[in-house]
Amino acid sequence: MPYLQPKGGWIELICGSMFSGKTEELIRRVRRAKIARQQVQVFKPKIDNRYAAAHVASHDGLQFEAENIEEARQILDRLRPDTTVVAIDEAQFLDWTVADVARLLADRGLRVIITGLDLDFRGEPFGPMPLLMAEAEMVDKLHAICVMCGAPASRTQRLINGQPANYSDPVIMVGASEVYEARCRDCHQVPGRPQSLGERVTSNE
Ligand code: TMP
Ligand code: MG
Ligand code: ZN
Repeated sequence: MPYLQPKGGWIELICGSMFSGKTEELIRRVRRAKIARQQVQVFKPKIDNRYAAAHVASHDGLQFEAENIEEARQILDRLRPDTTVVAIDEAQFLDWTVADVARLLADRGLRVIITGLDLDFRGEPFGPMPLLMAEAEMVDKLHAICVMCGAPASRTQRLINGQPANYSDPVIMVGASEVYEARCRDCHQVPGRPQSLGERVTSNE
């Protein structure tokens, strides 16, 4: 990817539905950086321990060493003086401070690579991702393939006992293909979802 960044730091954001290859792409980028003998640190929120505790892991088994954090500010505490590339996987689970942390690192001249789900199972912006997307210099939105119709999938369907999960279900539920599948806008189902923003605002009152 031709990143024309002469000097200084920047933020690259990789988002998209589950199974779109976000972590795979993050691993690809950090491996390239390591080959160039750059000092890389990878972080991930502790909440997600699906495949490997001390690694970020893609759905088909690619792995890269990673440090677990509970809060975004721990990235600053753990940062080594010689690190020039910081990658953060699953940023949707972190607190909103992650945007300040990313900005601070980029301002200091570091390359920051962030991945996360732009949308939750309800099809709504996930945690700090909208903020990160706005702050980033580069945003890649990856797609999976809709399991229903084969179109590019931008959304993640949660299935509970084979049925679409309800809008009122909790947002955070760690899992993989046993609970989630990629779907396009047309095939994505969220029973109980308010029809419009207006309706959602009034129903929250
Ligand atoms: P992935 O993007 O690497 O596939 O991982 C996404 C993680 O987020 C996975 O553990 C499932 C979880 N998740 C939620 O907690 N809530 C949601 O609404 C969705 C879509 C995923
Ligand atoms: Mg992932
Ligand atoms: Zn579809």
